[in-house]
Amino acid sequence: MYNSKITGLGYYVPKNVVTNDDLSKVIETNDAWIQERTGIQERRHVIKGDGDTTTSMGVKAAKIAIERSGLHKDDIDFIVFATLSPDYYFPGPGVLVQRDLDIKTIGALDIRNQCSGFVYGISVADQYIKSGMYKNVLVIGSELHSHGLDMTTRGRGVSVIFGDGAGAAVLSREEDNTKGILSTHLHSEGQHAEELSLIAPGMGKRWVTDIIADNDPNDESYFPYMNGQFVFKNAVVRFSEVIMEGLGANNLTPANINMLVPHQANLRISQFIQKKFGLQDDQVFNNIMKYGNTTAASIPIALTEAWEQGKIKEGDLVVLAAFGSGFTWGSVIIKW
Ligand code: COA
Repeated sequence: MYNSKITGLGYYVPKNVVTNDDLSKVIETNDAWIQERTGIQERRHVIKGDGDTTTSMGVKAAKIAIERSGLHKDDIDFIVFATLSPDYYFPGPGVLVQRDLDIKTIGALDIRNQCSGFVYGISVADQYIKSGMYKNVLVIGSELHSHGLDMTTRGRGVSVIFGDGAGAAVLSREEDNTKGILSTHLHSEGQHAEELSLIAPGMGKRWVTDIIADNDPNDESYFPYMNGQFVFKNAVVRFSEVIMEGLGANNLTPANINMLVPHQANLRISQFIQKKFGLQDDQVFNNIMKYGNTTAASIPIALTEAWEQGKIKEGDLVVLAAFGSGFTWGSVIIKW
């Protein structure tokens, strides 16, 4: 058995910055409410027509990650792409990355685990590398939320939170079993599937011909729905559990954490976890203030920024943790 380690990281965010004040011009909200409840100051939104898509942003992040890994694109053996906002209903963006990076006809897998998508993706890549099947796996998380949000006052509880962007990591074979990804831990609880969901377009609802015939602009099922307080309460419990599960599996405690990179759902959730585990400010990385919640992209963007800023060094214990729609949640324990 091998271990896998992260050998390259990259991210890309669209250039268009949308502040809380910008949002308050189109929906009834204000900077104070958003900052107090979520910590978010601004986020990025793709400008319609400027060419950014979920796939193209993922490709831009991937190119940086591959270059930093020191590999050639044709050294990549497999692609894993996590998103809830794919360019097409099908096929998923994994194959579009294979095409747009112009690499060999390697396998491409799409992951549908929302805010936990990148953690699930890392876990899949890790298993392929552990088993010896692949040597280098590209994992991408990318989201284009802004085209699908309800930018009216009706949608304000959701629409102020989400932002666009992409992050990517290259995982490569590590011969030393004490280094790299030590373990991954995944969970789901489908009982709460509809508490954070986008019900349409979906084949479960009705015939596509009915949807076209109805063409109902007031059909809210085409916008994301979130039972915010219920999600918040579950998130703080599951984040704590899955971090402790990961640490316990490796005979570690919160005191061993050098850097916790939580999914950027809400600054208040990160602060709750930080306090609960007695971590200092320099042991938890947050950038939700600048990007909002970018779902599958949030951990790889944050991890890349933390690494770029020199906050993650060789030998550090790095913990990734996510919770989101499904509900799904998970953690990754890494010896950098
Ligand atoms: N601006 C101003 N007021 C807003 C608003 C906005 N953007 N969104 C909602 N409100 C109002 C509501 O209408 C409500 O008003 P009322 O009391 O007059 O009915 C009030 O603010 C409180 O709304 P509520 O939804 O209860 O707010 P909250 O304190 O729960 O905060 C969230 C909302 C979404 C920030 C919070 O619930 C949250 O972060 N949840 C978890 C998100 C998460 O972790 N997601 C993880 C996976 S993606």
